[in-house]
Amino acid sequence: TTYKVGYFVGSLAKESINRKLAHALVKLAPPDLSLTEIPFKDLPLYSYDYDADFPQVAKDFKQAIADVDALLFVTPEYNRSIPGGLKNAIDWASRPYGKNSFTGKPSGIIGTSPGAIGTAIAQASLRGVLCFCNSPLMNTVEAYIHYTPGLFTDDGEVTNESTKKFLTNYMNEYHAFVIRVEKAFAP
Ligand code: FNR
Repeated sequence: TTYKVGYFVGSLAKESINRKLAHALVKLAPPDLSLTEIPFKDLPLYSYDYDADFPQVAKDFKQAIADVDALLFVTPEYNRSIPGGLKNAIDWASRPYGKNSFTGKPSGIIGTSPGAIGTAIAQASLRGVLCFCNSPLMNTVEAYIHYTPGLFTDDGEVTNESTKKFLTNYMNEYHAFVIRVEKAFAP
C-alpha cells in the first residue's frame, strides 16, 4: 500500500533550514510513502467569523489535508514555540466546529534548529496542540535535529552520515506508525 503524506514546513523563509530538512526526508522516505507539501502561507489570519463561509483558500487547505492519509510537521522553533503561521494554519484546519481536519489523522513531528536543543520546546508545544486536535501522534522516535551549516544541500542531500542514518530510521518508524494507526482505526 502506498500512503499519501502531507507535510507542513513551519517556516515561510526562503532559505528555511526546515524546508531543506523536509526535502531530505522526502528523499530518505521508504518507497511506500508519497510525500507532498501542504502550503499554508496564503491563508488569512483565522477568525471564527469565517466559520459560516470559509474562503476558497481555506477550503482548498482543508481538502488537501482530507486527501492525505497522514501528516508530517517539519517546523522550526520561534521564541520557544511554533511559528505563528503554522499555528494559524492549524487553527484553520481545526474549524469550523465539528469539521476538525485532524480527527484520526496520524501526525509526526520533526524540526531543526542551530540551537542546542534542536526545536525540542516547539515540538513539545505542538504535541499539546495536536493532541487536543485529536491527531494520533508518533511518540518515538523523537527527532531534534541540531543544524550545522551545510548539513543539508539545497537538493535534499544529507552530508553527515550519522544524521542521514538517523533520518532514514525516523522515516521508517514513521511509516510503521502510519500503518499501526490505520490498523487501529480499521473497521
Ligand atoms: C529563532 N530561532 C530560534 N531557535 C531556537 O532554537 N529556539 C528559539 O526559540 C528560536 N527563536 C527564534 C525566533 C525567531 C523569530 C526567529 C526568526 C528565529 C532561530 C531559528 O532556529 C533559526 O532562525 C532557523 O533558521 C529557523 O528555521 P527556518 O525558519 O530557517 O526553517
